Amino acid sequence: MARMTTQEFKEKLAAKRKQVDAAIDKFLPPADTRPSIVHQAMRYSLEAGGKRLRPMLIIAASELFPSKLDPMAACVAMECVHTYSLIHDDLPCMDNSDLRRGKPTCHKQFDEAVALLAGDALLTYSSWLLAKEYKNAPAAAIGLVEDLAYAAGSEKMIGGQVEDVIGERSGEKMTPEKLSFIQENKTAALITASITMGLRLTDSCDERKLEIGRRMGKNIGLAFQVIDDILDVVSDDATMGKTTGQDAVNEKMTWVSLYGLDRAREFAAELTEAAVSDCENLSENCEFLKALISYMQNRIN
Ligand code: IPE
Ligand code: IPE
Ligand code: MG
Ligand code: MG
Ligand code: MG
Repeated sequence: MARMTTQEFKEKLAAKRKQVDAAIDKFLPPADTRPSIVHQAMRYSLEAGGKRLRPMLIIAASELFPSKLDPMAACVAMECVHTYSLIHDDLPCMDNSDLRRGKPTCHKQFDEAVALLAGDALLTYSSWLLAKEYKNAPAAAIGLVEDLAYAAGSEKMIGGQVEDVIGERSGEKMTPEKLSFIQENKTAALITASITMGLRLTDSCDERKLEIGRRMGKNIGLAFQVIDDILDVVSDDATMGKTTGQDAVNEKMTWVSLYGLDRAREFAAELTEAAVSDCENLSENCEFLKALISYMQNRIN
């Protein structure tokens, strides 16, 4: 497979993002659907932008092998779950953030009750969408729902959020073990699901590929959160489109607070390298996914 130039990668990324944005618009109920306020809020947070990295991972993983299924509904379902997690993460009872995706957070723009309900609605909508859009490919549909619902659940994403919030408040000593649990789950779980969901869309998905996909996804996801923690310290609100510096204010234990910026950067590089190597082992046709993994390591927002 020929190497993909940076220019080719950027063009492909931009085109895929456009496709995902169009699919979000197509699949989500129109904003004037009764009760309009909740559909407005769902669209407000989803359409505020975001890097759409999880959908990009789904697409990239689905392109590792021949596939007859359209990945767009899976991309939208994933973005719904991710956006719901951000709406709730920003609430005053969680991180109490005012800025998200360059705009006031959902509860600032609407109110807390509407933000809570819009998040609930996005989560529920994701399963419905997967079941509805992939019902003619039942094995894929079941696999997609299994991966997404598991990743979003109490042992994975919610589990990570629980220990994150409790750890911050309890005053209990944070340990590297607890930090790993938090980061593997609050962030890496959805990123892992993005990889496996992409594989579920291919014609030749099997347990061996899923296993490599899970390992690769975990490394990409951990690297992603380490970089999020670094950017929370070194970047600013305008670049990130969200409130930065919050981890220090909330006295949150992160890789940066634990080991310092340099070691955190090294750790992200090691994780990225491991992910790239699994990607190469999995398929010869991996140029886009490989380029995406490196792009995620070097992101500035
Ligand atoms: C933010 O995720 C939340 C974390 C898990 C660190 P992203 O950085 O992917 O957020 P958007 O989708 O681009 O807004
Ligand atoms: C958010 O982690 C993880 C989830 C929403 C599941 P953070 O609290 O670090 O995310 P940001 O920094 O607010 O985007
Ligand atoms: Mg948080
Ligand atoms: Mg937060
Ligand atoms: Mg953060």
